[in-house]
Amino acid sequence: MIFGSKGSIGLDIGSSYFKVVQVKDTKKGYELELFDTLLVAPEIIVDGAIIDSLRLVEALKELTKKARVKTKDAVIGISGHASVIIKRISLNEMSEDELAESIKFEAEQYVPFDIEDVNLDFQILGPREEPGQMDVILVAVKKDIINEYVAVVKEAGLNPIIVDVAAFALENMYEINYEIEPNRNVALVNIGASTININILKGGVSVFTRDSSLGSNLYTEAIQKEFSITYENAERLKRGEAIEGVSPGDAYAVVMNTSEDLINEIGRSLDYYKSTTLHEDIDEVILSGGGALIKDFPRVLSEKIGVESKVAEPFKNISIPTKFDVSYIQEMAPMAAIAVGLALRRPGDR
Ligand SMILES: Nc1ncnc2c1ncn2[C@@H]1O[C@H](COP(=O)(O)OP(=O)(O)OP(=O)(O)O)[C@@H](O)[C@H]1O
Ligand SMILES: [Mg+2]
Repeated sequence: MIFGSKGSIGLDIGSSYFKVVQVKDTKKGYELELFDTLLVAPEIIVDGAIIDSLRLVEALKELTKKARVKTKDAVIGISGHASVIIKRISLNEMSEDELAESIKFEAEQYVPFDIEDVNLDFQILGPREEPGQMDVILVAVKKDIINEYVAVVKEAGLNPIIVDVAAFALENMYEINYEIEPNRNVALVNIGASTININILKGGVSVFTRDSSLGSNLYTEAIQKEFSITYENAERLKRGEAIEGVSPGDAYAVVMNTSEDLINEIGRSLDYYKSTTLHEDIDEVILSGGGALIKDFPRVLSEKIGVESKVAEPFKNISIPTKFDVSYIQEMAPMAAIAVGLALRRPGDR
């Protein structure tokens, strides 16, 4: 090819930040090509639904310009319990082709939406103990949500080549940065502004996922209420900045209360996983998303659920050329986890 391939970007369209990441595969491993973020107004995307597509398109254009994106190909992610269903199911053993033929029929009983309204995908996990059976991960994403996101991304001048699921993007991020140990249960927990994505890996293979509709907006709302202040000021307090009349120390009690609510929500998912797996323990939590940056959150989470919790390092195995502002990347890194995972996707892989 004369012009060569410019690769693709991972574009994470969050309700609070848009993130763009591009990595290239070199002989020495992964190297960062692009990284940027854009803070967006909270009323553009609400609960995963696009409320203001015009402003969304404008914001995407602003980000691609600011980040100097040179390729059009983009991998985007979808998340949210109202639009994505992921289930591990057990089926009679069959080939990939056979399952592709019958997936619609098989999926019908597991998907709470009209089967004609969803895009289906699956991954065969290999045989189970019972002979003749196999485990399959079934993924159903609402077509209208995919279409909305694809439309705005196209409108912004990009070419969406893959629509991935946020929880799986986390898994891709994990795979390149962490040592996978057989039988170890690792919970990847991404706390965004309005969604929590959980993906539990056993020996590196996804065995449980759940999206819930709580997120770090809870802090902003609680702080706003407590001090009768604006959204912007509450956001600043939440990040540990002082505002007139209120210090971050004054807000600490509210922050801790809210952390407890989020931890209970995460704990419920982990308990549910345990109850369905003959009480397997989670060995480690890898925390990402803006929620990982809340003061003391990783420590309090570890204490409350009794599992070691670490903040994700999405760029651990991606070398960062000196032209980048490394301190900015380090600061934003936990929030870039999904975008990094999306950036690692290549057409044709599973
Ligand atoms: N330094 C910080 N300290 C605490 N919170 C922070 C910090 N920086 C950002 N946040 C919070 O993190 C959230 C943004 O995180 P993230 O980018 O993961 O969310 P998002 O992807 O936009 O949301 P969602 O995926 O739920 O739509 C915001 O609520 C923001 O207030
Ligand atoms: Mg997000």
